[in-house]
Amino acid sequence: MNHGPGEVIPLKAANDVRDQLRRPVRDLRLSVIETCNFRCPYCMPEDAFPFGATEGSAFRLTFDQLETVVRAFVRLGVSKLRLTGGEPLLRKGLPDFIRRLTAINGIEDMALTTNASLLARQARALHKAGLHRLTVSLDSLDPKRFAALSGGRGRLADVLAGIEAAEDAGFERIKFNCVVQRGVNEVDVLPLVERFRGSGHVLRFIEFMDVGTCNGWSRERVVPSGDLLKRIAQHWPLRSLQPNYRGEVASRYAFEDGQGEIGFISSVSAPFCGDCQRARVSADGQLFTCLFASAGHDLRGLIDAGEDVLADALAAIWRQRSDRYSERRAEAGEAEHVEMFRIGG
Ligand code: GTP
Ligand code: 5AD
Ligand code: SF4
Ligand code: SF4
Repeated sequence: MNHGPGEVIPLKAANDVRDQLRRPVRDLRLSVIETCNFRCPYCMPEDAFPFGATEGSAFRLTFDQLETVVRAFVRLGVSKLRLTGGEPLLRKGLPDFIRRLTAINGIEDMALTTNASLLARQARALHKAGLHRLTVSLDSLDPKRFAALSGGRGRLADVLAGIEAAEDAGFERIKFNCVVQRGVNEVDVLPLVERFRGSGHVLRFIEFMDVGTCNGWSRERVVPSGDLLKRIAQHWPLRSLQPNYRGEVASRYAFEDGQGEIGFISSVSAPFCGDCQRARVSADGQLFTCLFASAGHDLRGLIDAGEDVLADALAAIWRQRSDRYSERRAEAGEAEHVEMFRIGG
């Protein structure tokens, strides 16, 4: 059963569900597709995931099923929704789905993470459908390095056209995520800062993480946010800002000269599990309670049993949750991890 605006939600699953560490669930990251048109080596290396081998449309949740997932999570306390992939703009019919999501009472904030390569054609329809927040992954402004960082599949010009189209369509304060790897794209940091300072958008640098199973992670390739902060502040003095909301993953800094802000996501050097209120659902209906989880909870049968049954089951799973991988990274062994592209970061 679906609950529309104004309807009374049964008390059974509507309580403020807490996990073993007293963390509520506020933020749902929903993958709408299990594949991507890029093959970034740190996320979906092509030798491990050749084209044609990862697509699983037969297992993909339908928009009806995805909507049931969102509605059930809202009853547990979720108010933030992020649509992810793989690359979500590969999913046909996304604007109509977004329109449906905007009608859900309780979703106060909706955003989408994209590589922007297909945005030029879709920005207007997405904005019209009611999506007003975008996050774009962008690791370099150098065409050659950009191509290499996308596994030889992306063209910087397409991404820049996508960004321009998004601005024209009315998207403001777009967030740009740059994963920094030592010896790979450190040289891109200052040009990216220069490009987005004063643009009204927000650039964030992400520490390279040991997500998935095949991105060749090593601690030596992580550039700690503290080092980047120092380097950037030598050119443009910065002062720290308060988080926008409890549990925000990025630490925020303002340019002293009033040209906006930048952020750092420091999951390796300064883990933030204590406030982690995020649940992730893959396009084939698996719930992951941590970005580094080794296994998901299969929701498919529960989704088909309806929103009431699903909400109760989700509450039971959330109450058992005790994940804090990033805080325990040093003790962690060589465990299996879900692949990043299945849960969109
Ligand atoms: P808003 O504040 O809603 O705009 O989003 P956000 O700051 O959560 O940013 P976004 O969703 O773009 O996340 C940025 C990146 O941070 C992700 O792609 C991940 O790489 C990383 N990240 C986000 N959430 C987590 C998390 O729970 N754990 C870890 N370790 N990393 C995370
Ligand atoms: N480390 C850090 N961030 C990553 N992302 C993908 N793989 C990694 C990784 N190994 C980020 C991308 C994108 C989001 C979907 O996840 O940069 O912004
Ligand atoms: Fe790259 Fe994002 Fe695609 Fe992963 S999902 S391969 S990070 S574009
Ligand atoms: Fe949350 Fe897991 Fe990330 Fe920690 S490592 S912040 S528990 S998703």
